[in-house]
Amino acid sequence: MANTPVYAKNYPSYTSTIWTRADALKVHEDDPTTTQPLVDKEFPILNDKLFIWDTMPLRSLDGTIVSVDGWSVIFTLTADRSPEKFTDAKGNYDITADWNDRHGRARICFWYSRTGKDWIFGGRVMKEGVSPTTREWAGTPILLSKKGVVDLYYTCVTPGATIAKVRGRIKTSSTGVTVEGFTTVKELFSADGKYYQTEDQNTYWNFRDPCPFLDPVDGRLYMVFEGNVAGDRGTHQIGTNEMGAVPPGYSNVGGARYQTGCIGLAVASDISGDNWELLPPLVTAVGVNDQTERPHYVFKDGKYYLFTISHKYTYADGLTGPDGVYGFVSENLTGPYRPMNSSGLVLGNPSSQPYQTYSHYVMPNGLVTSFIDSVPFPTPNPDDLQYRIGGTEAPTVRIKLDGDRSFVVETLDYGYIPAMKDYTISS
Ligand code: FRU
Repeated sequence: MANTPVYAKNYPSYTSTIWTRADALKVHEDDPTTTQPLVDKEFPILNDKLFIWDTMPLRSLDGTIVSVDGWSVIFTLTADRSPEKFTDAKGNYDITADWNDRHGRARICFWYSRTGKDWIFGGRVMKEGVSPTTREWAGTPILLSKKGVVDLYYTCVTPGATIAKVRGRIKTSSTGVTVEGFTTVKELFSADGKYYQTEDQNTYWNFRDPCPFLDPVDGRLYMVFEGNVAGDRGTHQIGTNEMGAVPPGYSNVGGARYQTGCIGLAVASDISGDNWELLPPLVTAVGVNDQTERPHYVFKDGKYYLFTISHKYTYADGLTGPDGVYGFVSENLTGPYRPMNSSGLVLGNPSSQPYQTYSHYVMPNGLVTSFIDSVPFPTPNPDDLQYRIGGTEAPTVRIKLDGDRSFVVETLDYGYIPAMKDYTISS
């Protein structure tokens, strides 16, 4: 085939790891070692004019969280809080409706800090009109050089869903951080329908959240991302492999064929990251869960720890688990992977506050950042639970990775994302 790129032609074939229904039956909410401590309903708000959610710390290609000239930098999905639009005739601001509407107007903004917390708002990364679609969804900012050049990998959504990158530069001064460039978006790829489900195959398809990395073993540039397994909606089979070793009485899967999440892999032709080839999924969740979002790696002790976030509401019939971060571990990039803690669950929300946090990102130092979604507070009528909407940084927690197991061991400050290495970029 004349069009087959040289870099993938000889790529060793591998089999996707199946996260089975039997594995997922081992997911237990409220195990204290895999449950995020309760978030106080009196949490502080980063910015009362903005909602923020998915948080993307500036990092290098090997995953190290970096600062530049002593400034830590994070990128966030961001939307204006819009009370003018969501206040009724009686003057009641429906913050929940405002919050739920945010995905359609998501913009990537940046923040900087001297302390790894106390974030100062820097503004939008791309100016209005630069990104080709209506939504700027999650990805990964990569510091490429000591001159402050950054490749922001992200997702262009609606119409379609395309993984893209935009290059710019971070500049520092004694008083803060600015960005320049980020004016030309390069579209990299969309779902192919062969490995990854397309919009034609399923209007509820998921294809987003690129996270590039250097394989510590072969040194090549790869990317993980969220996808669904290719095939028309409703045609996926849940066979013995997808079931796993389920107990007697667990053969009825209801409508589980509609849940087809997977963690995708792509390989770049070279370190520039301009040309990519799709490879088969690393982990599939057919019949288990429909969303394996924001996948990312931690490399430790010769192991590949592959993390992904998922929701309670995206589990298939007959299965359940908390919103939170799940993990899979292997000695090889292409697997086979073992679900961490036997089930996959690494850090979930407590059942008493099921939506307190989401979009966890596990850093190589074991710190896990996430955002606050909503925290319930009691009212005189116990059936009438009220929620306080977050749209702000959650307390960072520390987990300990111990072989195939993990333990939550510490709660730190809200939005604490300390750099692991500082780069001098001012010339
Ligand atoms: C996770 C997520 C991402 C997506 C973004 C959209 O919170 O669903 O997968 O990029 O939020 O707002």
